[in-house]
Amino acid sequence: MERTYGVVLVGCGHIGQSHIEEIYFRDGIRIVAVVDFNPNTAQLFARKYGAAEYNTDYHPYLDRNDVDIFIAATYANSHLQILRDCIQAGKHLLCEKPMTEANEADAEEFYRLAKAAKSKVLIAHILRHNSTYQRVREMIREGAIGDVRLIRMIQNHHIMNPARYGRLMEDCPPFVDCGVHYIDVARWFTGMKVVSVGGIGSRVGNLVPQGHFDHGILNMKLENGASVIYEAGWAESIAAQNLKEFIGDKGRIRIVLQADRNEDREEGALIAWYSSDTGEYHTINSPSIYKNMWQQLLCLIDMIEGKSEGSPTLDDAYRAFRIALLGWHACEQNNVLPVPEEFA
Ligand SMILES: NC(=O)c1ccc[n+]([C@@H]2O[C@H](COP(=O)([O-])OP(=O)(O)OC[C@H]3O[C@@H](n4cnc5c(N)ncnc54)[C@H](O)[C@@H]3O)[C@@H](O)[C@H]2O)c1
Repeated sequence: MERTYGVVLVGCGHIGQSHIEEIYFRDGIRIVAVVDFNPNTAQLFARKYGAAEYNTDYHPYLDRNDVDIFIAATYANSHLQILRDCIQAGKHLLCEKPMTEANEADAEEFYRLAKAAKSKVLIAHILRHNSTYQRVREMIREGAIGDVRLIRMIQNHHIMNPARYGRLMEDCPPFVDCGVHYIDVARWFTGMKVVSVGGIGSRVGNLVPQGHFDHGILNMKLENGASVIYEAGWAESIAAQNLKEFIGDKGRIRIVLQADRNEDREEGALIAWYSSDTGEYHTINSPSIYKNMWQQLLCLIDMIEGKSEGSPTLDDAYRAFRIALLGWHACEQNNVLPVPEEFA
C-alpha cells in the first residue's frame, strides 16, 4: 500500500459490520466517518471502531480531501445514487452487491457510469477473496474433476430477523441478491459462458406481497452443456441449508463450511474431493476466512494504485447481475430464457 487511505463506511448494518471490523485497525486505513440512517447505530459504530465522526448523511464527506474511499454497505436501491455522487466527487467506491435493485435500467446505468469513470469501483463479491474458493477454482481449472458437467448450489436462510430480510427483499428476491455471487462463481470457476437461464419461484413465507418470490431455483446451462442449479430462499419456515458441489466426469468437489461440520470444525472450511479415476476420497483442510473483507479492500486499493483491474471485473459483476435478473424474469414467466451474448 503506497499511502494511508481515508474511508467512509455508509451503512452500519449486518454487512457494514463485517466490513469495518476487518479493516478499522489496519495500517494504512483511517476510518474518517461511519454513516447510517439510524444515528444511534452510527454512533455505536463510531465508538466501537474508532471513527473520527458519525452521521446520518454521507454527502458532507464527498468533498473532503481526507476521504479517498466510500464503502456502500446500504440497501441495493441506494447503490446507484452513491455511485453517481462518488464519481462526481472523484471518490473510489467499494459497493456491496447487487449493483442496484432488481431493475435493468439502473443496472445498465451503474455499469456504464462505473466503466467510464476515473474513480475505481469494485463490486463486493466476497467469495472472490476467499482462499477456499480460490483453491477449488484452481483445482477445477487443473482438471481435478475432469469436464464440469453439473454444479449444485443451495443457500437457504431460516429467517430470525424478519425486518432485515423483508427490507432486502423489497429491492431484490434472494436468488438475485445472493444469486449474483453464485452465478459469478459458476462463470469464474469454469471460465464458461451461461447460455440460458430458467427458473421457478415460490412465495414460501408472508414477508413478500402476493405475486413476489422469497424463494427460487435457477437452472442454467453453460456453453459446454453443463447444468448449474442454484437455489435460494429466505423465510421463517425454510431450514438453513448450504451446499456447494461441483461435479465433473472424473470426480466431484464439495466445499463444506466450518459451521456445517460436526467434527474437526477447528480446522476451518473443508474441500471434499472425490476422484473417480482412483476411487479415492480426499479431505483438504482449508483454513480460510469466509468473508475476507480486508483482502477485498486491498483489491480496491490495488485498483487505485494501478496494480489490478479488480476481482470481479466490472464486466463480470455486471454479467452475473444481468443473468440473475433474467433468472428472475424466467421465474415470473415459468420459462427458460436465452442469455444474450453480451451478458453470457
Ligand atoms: N457480500 C455479502 O456476503 C452480503 C451479505 C449480506 C448483505 N449483503 C448486501 O449488503 C447490502 C446491505 O445488506 P445488510 O444485510 O447489511 O442490510 P442491513 O439492513 O443489515 O443494513 C443496512 C444498513 O444500511 C443503512 N442504510 C441503508 N441505506 C442507507 C443510506 N442511503 N444512507 C445511510 N444508511 C443507509 C440502514 O439503516 C441499515 O442500518 C445489501 O445490498 C445486501 O445485498 C452482502
